[in-house]
Amino acid sequence: VKAISQEGDDLLWKENPDPDLKEDEVLIRIKASAINRADLLQRSGNYPVPPGASPILGLECAGVVEEVGEEINNFVKGDEVCALLAGGGYAEKVSVPSGQVLKVPRGFSFEQAAALPEVFATAYFNLYMEAKLSEGEKTLIHAGASGVGTAAIQICKAMGNPCFVTAGTKEKISRCMELGAEGGTVRNEENFADSVAKWTDNNGVQVILDPVGANYLEDNMKSLTLEGRLVMIGLMGGAKA
Ligand SMILES: NC(=O)c1ccc[n+]([C@@H]2O[C@H](COP(=O)([O-])OP(=O)(O)OC[C@H]3O[C@@H](n4cnc5c(N)ncnc54)[C@H](OP(=O)(O)O)[C@@H]3O)[C@@H](O)[C@H]2O)c1
Repeated sequence: VKAISQEGDDLLWKENPDPDLKEDEVLIRIKASAINRADLLQRSGNYPVPPGASPILGLECAGVVEEVGEEINNFVKGDEVCALLAGGGYAEKVSVPSGQVLKVPRGFSFEQAAALPEVFATAYFNLYMEAKLSEGEKTLIHAGASGVGTAAIQICKAMGNPCFVTAGTKEKISRCMELGAEGGTVRNEENFADSVAKWTDNNGVQVILDPVGANYLEDNMKSLTLEGRLVMIGLMGGAKA
C-alpha cells in the first residue's frame, strides 16, 4: 500500500508493506483520515508509537471494509466505517481490531466520520468512565474549542451535564456556546476560578477535564466541589506546578 512515511522532517507518500489481517480484525480501505494534537506530537518525536503499533502516522480514519478476519461477524465487506487506530491511518489501507470500529453515522461524510473516533472516545472515556460523571453534575472543560473540548461539550449537552469552558478568544467561547456550553471565560483575560465560582453560586464543579496541567492546577483545585474529580489528559501548559 501507499502510505505517508516520515523521513527526518519530510513526509513522503511511498510504497509500504500491506497490513496483515488477524482473526479479530477488519481491513479498511481508507477514504479520509484526521489530524489531532497527538499526531503533531508524534511527528515531532515527542509521543512514541505504542509497542507493536504501525510506525505509519494516523490515529483515526474512515473508509470501506475490504476484508474481515475469521472471527468477525458484525462487519461485512462494503460496510462504511470509521475507526480509532494505534497508528497507520495515513495510508491507503489499515487493519484494526473490530472493537475499535464503528459504522459511519447516518448522514456523515467520510471526512466528518474520520474526525469522530479520537476526540469523542477521549472525551467520553475521560468524563464518563474515568471521572464517572453522572447526570446533572457540572463540568469545567479547558481548551473548550480544541478537538477534544468541542467533543466534550457536545457529549455533556447530550448527557444532561451543564458545562463551562475556557478558551483563547471570545469568538471561540461563542462557538463553544453554540455547541452547548452554558458559559465560558477567555484564558489570559479572566481568572477562570472566579468565573466558575460565579457560574456555580460558589459551589464548584464536580468534574474538570484538563489538557493544560501545571499553571491551571491551583485554580482547578479552587473550582472543584467537595469530592470533585480532576482528569488530566495533557500537559500543554507544562508538567511542573
Ligand atoms: N485528540 C485526542 O484524541 C487526545 C487524546 C488524549 C489526549 N489529548 C490531549 O488533549 C489536548 C488537546 O488535544 P486536541 O487534539 O483536542 O488539541 P487541538 O484541537 O489542537 O487544540 C488545542 C488547543 O488548546 C489550547 N491550548 C494550547 N496550549 C495551551 C496552553 N498552554 N494553555 C491553555 N490552552 C492551551 C489552544 O486553544 P485556546 O487558545 O482556545 O485555549 C489550542 O487551540 C492535548 O494536550 C492532547 O495531547 C488529546
